Amino acid sequence: MSRPRPARPEDGLAWITGASSGIGRQLALELVERGWTVVATARREAELAALAAEAKGRVIAAPADVTDAQAVSAAVHRAQTETGRPIALAVLNAGTYIHDSAQRFDLDAFSRQVRVNIDGTAIALASVMPAMIARGTGQIAIVSSVAGYRGLPRAIAYSATKAALIAMAESLKFDLDQTGVMINVINPGFVKTPLTDRNDFPMPFLMPVEAAAKRIADGLARGRFEIAFPRRFAAILKLMRILPYALYFPVVGRTTQRR
Ligand SMILES: NC(=O)c1ccc[n+]([C@@H]2O[C@H](COP(=O)([O-])OP(=O)(O)OC[C@H]3O[C@@H](n4cnc5c(N)ncnc54)[C@H](OP(=O)(O)O)[C@@H]3O)[C@@H](O)[C@H]2O)c1
Repeated sequence: MSRPRPARPEDGLAWITGASSGIGRQLALELVERGWTVVATARREAELAALAAEAKGRVIAAPADVTDAQAVSAAVHRAQTETGRPIALAVLNAGTYIHDSAQRFDLDAFSRQVRVNIDGTAIALASVMPAMIARGTGQIAIVSSVAGYRGLPRAIAYSATKAALIAMAESLKFDLDQTGVMINVINPGFVKTPLTDRNDFPMPFLMPVEAAAKRIADGLARGRFEIAFPRRFAAILKLMRILPYALYFPVVGRTTQRR
């Protein structure tokens, strides 16, 4: 079995979930620039059709809700059958963030984030991983967040789901390293997208989506396990990760005015 290596456009298709807006959409355009044909999945068909038109035939719209295992598997199957090419690179990016707090805890919102961010990622994973393992090659990248390093304020569900995705990727790596399939975890800081446009708090080191997509594409081609950016913000949050609770709560509470 050969060692996992970054996938290349000649290996097959790239597949991106959550490709109808924000990071996923921009990454699709970036990968097309770099020679890939991209299969784009999300629920909004009109947005996917607009993306496919913009990419002049190099993006294949494959609409599906990531929480629907049958629909995801059918979309993946159709794209591979129609092109006669396997998915060589899968970027599992579909996700959602709903502000929350202990005082306004909403069980439905919590469950929805678990369903999309964790179950949706597992469903997408299950639709490509077995074939990659059987071929002994491929690359899977899970989009988590620096918000998964530790519990952040107003992110009870979001931090929990993103921490779960980091743990999932870490755990997968032990097995996948023996199969020839590469696994990466992508941990962005704040990126300007429709998701963060809803935020009503200061977002340090907010990054344009074009720059974020380039960072991700570069990171995928380089093949390091973690792709985290912007570098300085990620470094600060990594430091928070190793702080003892006695320091973590006052430092983060004070800087985010939650204490
Ligand atoms: N922006 C940031 O600062 C930031 C930072 C760290 C991590 N992230 C992560 O990056 C990923 C993309 O976020 P973004 O900022 O680009 O947000 P966005 O613009 O809101 O994009 C989210 C994407 O996920 C898709 N999606 C949501 N629910 C879905 C479902 N049930 N089935 C299929 N697709 C679904 C949406 O498409 P439809 O609505 O058409 O289904 C959309 O394409 C998320 O996982 C997010 O947590 C973002």
